[in-house]
Amino acid sequence: MYLRIVISLVVVVVSTSWAMAQSLTGNPKNGERIFHQYCVGCHGTTGDGLGPDIKELIVPPANFRAPKLRTRTDMELYLAIKQGVLFSPMHGWADRLSDQEIRDVLRYIRSLAPFNPVG
Ligand code: HEC
Repeated sequence: MYLRIVISLVVVVVSTSWAMAQSLTGNPKNGERIFHQYCVGCHGTTGDGLGPDIKELIVPPANFRAPKLRTRTDMELYLAIKQGVLFSPMHGWADRLSDQEIRDVLRYIRSLAPFNPVG
């Protein structure tokens, strides 16, 4: 009896942590599609911030490959995509992309330029 309680507790703990880990992951393939549809005009196909639509922008788009962006955490980038950056042409995408789609596109950006805490 006691053993069964322990086993079910272990199952609950393991499956919740699995679910939490899953909720932070995204699908980079779907992210690639979203990136090409909405983001390349400014951020460029390689994420270097040199897309074809940047000539009229006052603030240059972020270069995802630069240390400044590679040292940002996933959560910082996630919030920037969701809510936008104040006083910048980078508006929030919460009205057009679901939370899952934002995670997908974030995973794709990270595949172009992986997180690097030392820059
Ligand atoms: C109209 C041009 C434009 C489009 C389209 C655009 N961005 Fe941006 N983005 C910018 C600019 C400009 C900045 C730099 C903002 C700043 O540093 O003030 C930026 C910054 C960012 C940042 C970094 C924010 C930070 O923390 O410094 C991320 C991440 C980002 N964009 C993701 C995206 C994604 C994902 C898409 C597509 C869904 C997208 N952007 C579409 C112009 C654009």
